[in-house]
Amino acid sequence: MQTVSVDANAISFSSKFPPNNNNEYPLHLYDPIISSANLPSAAAESLRAEKLVVFPTETVYGIGAIATSATAVSKIFIAKQRPQDNPLIVHISSLKMLEELFSNTVHPTQPNFTSCIPKIYFPLIAKYWPGPLTILIPAPPSIPSIVTAGHPTIAVRFPSSPIARALISLTGLPIAAPSANKSGRPSPTLASHVIHDFQNDLNTPIAMVIDGGPCESGVESTVIDALMKDGHTNPVILRPGGVTVEMVRMVVGFEGARVYKKGEELKLEEFPTTPGMKYRHYTPNAHVVLFDVGSIKIKNVESVKDKLKLAMEREYKEIVTAGIPDSGSPPKIGILRTFFSNTPPYLDSVEIYDLGTLNNYHDIANQLFRGLRELESRGVSYIFVEGITEDNEGLAVMNRIRKAASSVVLFLSDS
Ligand code: TXA
Ligand code: MG
Repeated sequence: MQTVSVDANAISFSSKFPPNNNNEYPLHLYDPIISSANLPSAAAESLRAEKLVVFPTETVYGIGAIATSATAVSKIFIAKQRPQDNPLIVHISSLKMLEELFSNTVHPTQPNFTSCIPKIYFPLIAKYWPGPLTILIPAPPSIPSIVTAGHPTIAVRFPSSPIARALISLTGLPIAAPSANKSGRPSPTLASHVIHDFQNDLNTPIAMVIDGGPCESGVESTVIDALMKDGHTNPVILRPGGVTVEMVRMVVGFEGARVYKKGEELKLEEFPTTPGMKYRHYTPNAHVVLFDVGSIKIKNVESVKDKLKLAMEREYKEIVTAGIPDSGSPPKIGILRTFFSNTPPYLDSVEIYDLGTLNNYHDIANQLFRGLRELESRGVSYIFVEGITEDNEGLAVMNRIRKAASSVVLFLSDS
């Protein structure tokens, strides 16, 4: 597993995208020419030779294989130990590339415009592509069923990260890439996270890890299904992410978009692939305890801090009472902190990781997976996470924490 550092700033694009008229661009089949002298040619060569390459995106690191080869894609499932029925996102660097997967489907009267993407998505991708947005569209016949786990739809994303775009463009083929963690672990936002997860694999099929530094967003892309299947009258946000619900609802046709909630409907519940519904997720090697503010609007932060402190002390006592491990010393606790209390740590001996302040959810999202991994590496047995409200990027953050948590303490309503 070779690691190569690449500077995203050294990658340049031939020109900016043409102006966005009538919500039609970027549906134009524009293919920017990318100058990426500092991206090793071996990366694209490895991908074309059906090997795996890990690369940064603006969300998290991805572990990629060319999406058109079942042989290549099967290596992702083996490396990650990912269940075969969990489909992958296919990454493109131009709409032309997507169009090429659908032979004979070019729009009959407007050959320069894409026809494989249902029209409802046009204004959404005109606004948020390239970027942290994944859409479901009918799957093309050229994509092997291992990518879609046999489903009739395919998840597609046009990332904005210059390294990701340059790599896909140089490879000349779409790249299937899930997050580059071992299945069930927190997603990686640094190359070192990837190396940590895969370093003990003796025969890892990963040919190269491209280290592009920390990811910009830190939570995975928003996944949207606007195909209106199964009687749905509004688009469904299957996974909240960097493009927030508020941002989605500002777009024509998406005003009524709703966030999928676990167990809400039988049809969706039966669908095994709704992101994060079925599998263990984002779990570090420690018990994660979420301190949840619930749906209460926070008016007085000071009083919330006091209640949080009491709730954490109570929880800690319960853990200690439940049993001190054989080592004889009480379990080590870590706190992922968002409230930034000025007081000393809530408990006597804790490891603290500051995610960010309550007025900057972007920072909190950016640091979340990194914080879970960092506290894990400090050897804590429990990670107490200070929850935030579920607006804007807070929704994506809380969605990930809820999946990582083995227990939840509702500390505002129970006192
Ligand atoms: O930001 C991201 O999306 C990152 C970077 C690497 O691009 N990728 C990522 O991939 O998060 P992954 O595999 O960890 O998550 C993809 C999610 C999965 O939960 C999967 O179930 C869902 O997308 N998905 C993929 N294809 C789908 C489909 N056809 N229908 C429903 N969900 C699908
Ligand atoms: Mg993942």
